[in-house]
Amino acid sequence: MKKLWFGVLLAVFIAIGAACSNVDPHESAQKHDMANMNGQGENAARNSGENLPLATNTKVLSGKEFYITAKEALLKINDKVRLPVYTYNGSVPGPELHVKQGDRVKIHFKNDLPVPTAIHWHGYPVSNNQDGVPGVTMDAIKPGKTYTYEFTATVPGTYWYHSHQNSVNQVDEGLYGALIVEPKNKATFDREYTLVLDEWMSHGNAQMNMAGMNHGDMNHGSCTGDGQTDTSGSCHDMGMYGLFTINGKSGSAIKPLKVKQGEKVRLRLINAGYMTHALHLHGHEYKIVATDGHPLNDPQPIKDKLLNIAPGERYDIEFTANHPGEWLLECHGNMKGAAGMKVKIQYEGAKSSTDKANAKEDLPAVDLTKYGKPASGPFTLDQKYDVSYTMRLGTAMGKNGMVYTINGKTYPETAPLYVKTGDRVKVKLVNASPVDHPMHLHGHFFQVLSKNGKPLTGSPLIKDTLNVKPGEEYVVAFKADNPGDWMFHCHELHHASAGMVTEVKYKDYKSDYTPDPDDQTNRGE
Ligand code: C2O
Ligand code: CU
Repeated sequence: MKKLWFGVLLAVFIAIGAACSNVDPHESAQKHDMANMNGQGENAARNSGENLPLATNTKVLSGKEFYITAKEALLKINDKVRLPVYTYNGSVPGPELHVKQGDRVKIHFKNDLPVPTAIHWHGYPVSNNQDGVPGVTMDAIKPGKTYTYEFTATVPGTYWYHSHQNSVNQVDEGLYGALIVEPKNKATFDREYTLVLDEWMSHGNAQMNMAGMNHGDMNHGSCTGDGQTDTSGSCHDMGMYGLFTINGKSGSAIKPLKVKQGEKVRLRLINAGYMTHALHLHGHEYKIVATDGHPLNDPQPIKDKLLNIAPGERYDIEFTANHPGEWLLECHGNMKGAAGMKVKIQYEGAKSSTDKANAKEDLPAVDLTKYGKPASGPFTLDQKYDVSYTMRLGTAMGKNGMVYTINGKTYPETAPLYVKTGDRVKVKLVNASPVDHPMHLHGHFFQVLSKNGKPLTGSPLIKDTLNVKPGEEYVVAFKADNPGDWMFHCHELHHASAGMVTEVKYKDYKSDYTPDPDDQTNRGE
């Protein structure tokens, strides 16, 4: 989701020549505005990353041992837009890692970026010291340095990895990829595709962000707290994210998904962005077979219903290719980027285009709290819990603008959730703010037990990321079975960077990591 204005700025620097190597950032901001007014913004941006290699296509890597290098590249999002980005192995998304359940996995990571970074394995129950949160579980990996991550692939499913250093900006800039853990037993489908959703800033209104950007660090000038406040209460004007992508491409640049009649097809949907996307699969019945890596019990077929996927969430859906032609999976809604977030599903040998985009069509959404068949899950509402917490999610006016709070506090002042190994933990999440909060817990899965006081009536729902909408209240429960210091935060990462983070801390865990007090580069949130 790299900011295009950065490209514009770079180009302006180049355009105005070496004399300006000490240019005052405010001056560059004005120049930038002029470039936009002259309608040169896009051209300028297109030239700006000339020294960078063009991003390659995402590769699928299978095995137990992987080599990943973080480096810069120029990403061609469509015919018009190229953005300088951060990548894993030169592609956005980074390599799609396929590992086998039961395997011990090693990832040799090298940082060839100009900034410190770290990889976090989102949703995966790795041991705490491999969780990749700078300042909490490890020091950020400095430019030129390496680090080897290791974990056992205990549970199958769809996961992802991303930077957890200054993540609001580094994930925005492209540092993410899919992690697929294949089950021990044979797959139940014939073909699979992984689709990673994201949004990027488009230049049309990029200058709006200039007031809010951090001039000391232009590459990472996202939300500094004094940016624009939009109607959704975000300190970041989400309207600036006008370019939506699937696997790093937008609109017709997205590679069609080939299917053969009769095949059972699994789509693994991962939202690496900061907005919820409502997806509509045309022409087919589908089932949601898993979310956040966890299977749903006896999912019923769905037709013409929207699947909402919030930041950080994953959904595995399956359909049978029994309706030859060319169909769309498309993002619905009025958001300006929605038109770019659609991918064709092409039957081999089918004649082109039998389907029409219709992003404005009003369709009901799937309600996950009523989906699938009941079964006994690990927890119930009325059982005994060792500890219970309430997290009230709010907003407040801070010294430098809007902050996002948990029980009135911003990280690191938020009160941790203390647990000890073996505890059964119940957490009530209450959204008392005007915007969605997709809350994500590291290192554990929780069962969602009730919504707005009503017990769930469908399949047991086990997740690591749960979108809590304004006014909603959920009760979730988890077993404290993975000792460590674990983040629990909003995955609209602007909210996390503006305070909405806390930690689950095991009282009986003593980390062998102590952050270097003189190291100012760790930015785990
Ligand atoms: Cu996907 Cu704390 O992260
Ligand atoms: Cu939030």
